[in-house]
Amino acid sequence: MEKIINEESRTFSEYLLIPGLTKKIHIPSNISLKTPLAKFSKGKSSALTLNIPFVSSIMQAVSNDKLAIALAREGGLSFIYGSQSIEEQALMVKKVKNFKAGFVTSDSNLTINSSMKDAYQLSKQTGHSIIAITSDGKPNSKFLGTLDVSDFPVEILNSTDLISEHYTPITKLIVKPEGISLKEANEVIYKNKLKCLSITDKDSNLVSFVFKKDRDLRQNFPNELVDNKKRLCVGAGINTKDYKERVPILIEAGVNALCIDSSDGYTEWQAETIEWIKEEYGDDIIVGAGNIVDGRAFRYLVNAGADFIKIGIGGGSICITRDQKGIGRGQASSVIAVANERDKYLNETGIYIPICSDGGIALDYHITIALALGADFVMMGRYFARFDESPGKLVKINGSFLKEYWAEGSNRARNWQRYDLGGKEELSFEEGIDGFVPYAGSLKPELAGTMLKIKSTMSNCGVLSLEELRTNVQLTYISSMSLRENTFHDVQLKGSE
Ligand code: IMP
Repeated sequence: MEKIINEESRTFSEYLLIPGLTKKIHIPSNISLKTPLAKFSKGKSSALTLNIPFVSSIMQAVSNDKLAIALAREGGLSFIYGSQSIEEQALMVKKVKNFKAGFVTSDSNLTINSSMKDAYQLSKQTGHSIIAITSDGKPNSKFLGTLDVSDFPVEILNSTDLISEHYTPITKLIVKPEGISLKEANEVIYKNKLKCLSITDKDSNLVSFVFKKDRDLRQNFPNELVDNKKRLCVGAGINTKDYKERVPILIEAGVNALCIDSSDGYTEWQAETIEWIKEEYGDDIIVGAGNIVDGRAFRYLVNAGADFIKIGIGGGSICITRDQKGIGRGQASSVIAVANERDKYLNETGIYIPICSDGGIALDYHITIALALGADFVMMGRYFARFDESPGKLVKINGSFLKEYWAEGSNRARNWQRYDLGGKEELSFEEGIDGFVPYAGSLKPELAGTMLKIKSTMSNCGVLSLEELRTNVQLTYISSMSLRENTFHDVQLKGSE
């Protein structure tokens, strides 16, 4: 083994793609972004194929059930964060599995004893005008009626009148039982000119609402990632400490893939965890492992039975691991090294192991570079933390809207299991920061823009699939001098005079 790897540690910004011949077939609508998540033998297909090459980070600030639903609806996969109790994590998994397009759990709920002012405030907070009135103000309790804030003048909305004086009681609403199909629900909505249909269970508890405004829902999500029962797919992060308790409960909740979450995956603890899961469940459950940065670690985890391998140490936007400990490797160099080993392994065994580039995507084009360098999919934290659907709070600072984004190794998350080396059960020192990212609205339009950019680049390179992008495309290094040319230069931007 060479003491010093004879190669610089490079990152995505140091590469550019060289265009290939674009034929008339290479239009974005012909380009597929499908990619395997789990290992498969040559000629066979993967147990799970993502419709877009994106998964979301195993982080408190990123992957909860809400983001998981939004991402799976677009064709990607979230790994619900593991730095919470097993029960809480399993509940998030269940919420994704139980999600039914068009059936929305009410997020604005009050009791008849709340005031109209409370209703007005709540409506402003959630942006929704219809408020569910339940026995205790919880979304799935005894349903009493609804209050549509948009039906009232501001004087009443600012008053201390009780909701009981103004709400529409259940006796005056059309209510349907749980189990009704979306098509049937929409028919009821049209026939009765409703804004919203209430769905209850056999004990008259509110289950969900179906809103008229959501009617085109299905057609808007052609890429949805679903299992064989048409339920959305979801992943979950696990650790090497409590996996014997956590994994069975997550599997019971319906999880589709697991991933061991660690800043350093080249450990005996990870091998033991994978081996235990494979002994208990065989190939019925997908298990990813990592993070790693070289071929040796790839072999080690693959030999233990990992279904995919996650790459990246120290490149995350919130990460200070390299500062604190001096370990890691430029993200592009790590992907290249692991992809080389993956290809060697494929030649030797006929088994393809998907690899994931995790962290360090600062610009959309970095995703395309990561995929061209050999990654099968990318994991992103900062990217997803910016959206409405992520768990962080939206705040306004100096006139700009920002969302909170904190690292798993920060004092806020204190995910000691991610950094555990068999010592005390606590975070010894921080490996990440607690910060903000610019707010970017809802996930769907932004993701569509990112995918269009990737497809546009693939079109320029003359490829129709990610496999072709990995195998047929040339890249070049860029010098620090030419980096200047990457964006506009020598011209003053209008508005900055
Ligand atoms: P980003 O997409 O550049 O924001 O990077 C997200 C990735 O950073 C995650 O998927 C993790 O692999 C990694 N990460 C999360 N928390 C920490 C931390 O505290 N220290 C180092 N890396 C972290």
